[in-house]
Amino acid sequence: MRIYNVAIDGPAGAGKSTIAKKAAAALRFVYIDTGAMYRAMAIYFIEHGIDKNDEKSICEACKDIDIEIKYDAGNVQRVFLERVDVTDRLRTQEVGDMASAVSVYKDVRKKLVDLQRRLAESQNVIMDGRDIASVVLPNAEVKIYLTASTEIRAKRRYDELIEKGIECDLQVVMNEIEERDWRDMHREISPLVRVPEAILIDTSDMTIEEVTQKVIDLVKNEMAKDI
Ligand code: DC
Repeated sequence: MRIYNVAIDGPAGAGKSTIAKKAAAALRFVYIDTGAMYRAMAIYFIEHGIDKNDEKSICEACKDIDIEIKYDAGNVQRVFLERVDVTDRLRTQEVGDMASAVSVYKDVRKKLVDLQRRLAESQNVIMDGRDIASVVLPNAEVKIYLTASTEIRAKRRYDELIEKGIECDLQVVMNEIEERDWRDMHREISPLVRVPEAILIDTSDMTIEEVTQKVIDLVKNEMAKDI
């Protein structure tokens, strides 16, 4: 049976994980959240008091860090760090910043890219991240670049935090998003880029349902070519 790989890249807050998760459920594909893997590595460095600029210690630690991806009964991805499920601790600002900072290092990326490729080898997947179409799955059948204006992305992140009861300032959230975009797009290894063949979807004025349907249609069209 033919295996289909769908790559979704884009900046923080564009809606990648929400959309990818829903589209994967509808298509019965496995959703792989690669940002969660960088975040799990980040938790390791935070817990071990390793400074984000200490490249030597970070690369040394990469050899030993044990990261595993499993799926629960509802097909939701769970990330295990040193055999402990850290999924519910991944989505804090501190962990996101650390993930962005350490994702610039070659050894961190190599470890996770190998794991990501293994997961996509044997099953239909929708994988989201920053370098999926450009590096991880360059032969993906469908490549999508999801984006939205900085203002909209900041507002979405702000609403999410407020909903969780976390007090914050919209301007501060916006500054953090801009800083993270800049770092993700300008790092030396595997920066966030839109590969020429990726289909651009600007989600600024679209609902989650509209974007999800668009992704589903793109995948179904691709699969129909093989029938
Ligand atoms: O998508 P996210 O916010 O969970 O990702 C957290 C950080 O991890 C992001 O700022 C950069 C890094 N990352 C990466 O470098 N490559 C990926 N494929 C996914 C995430």
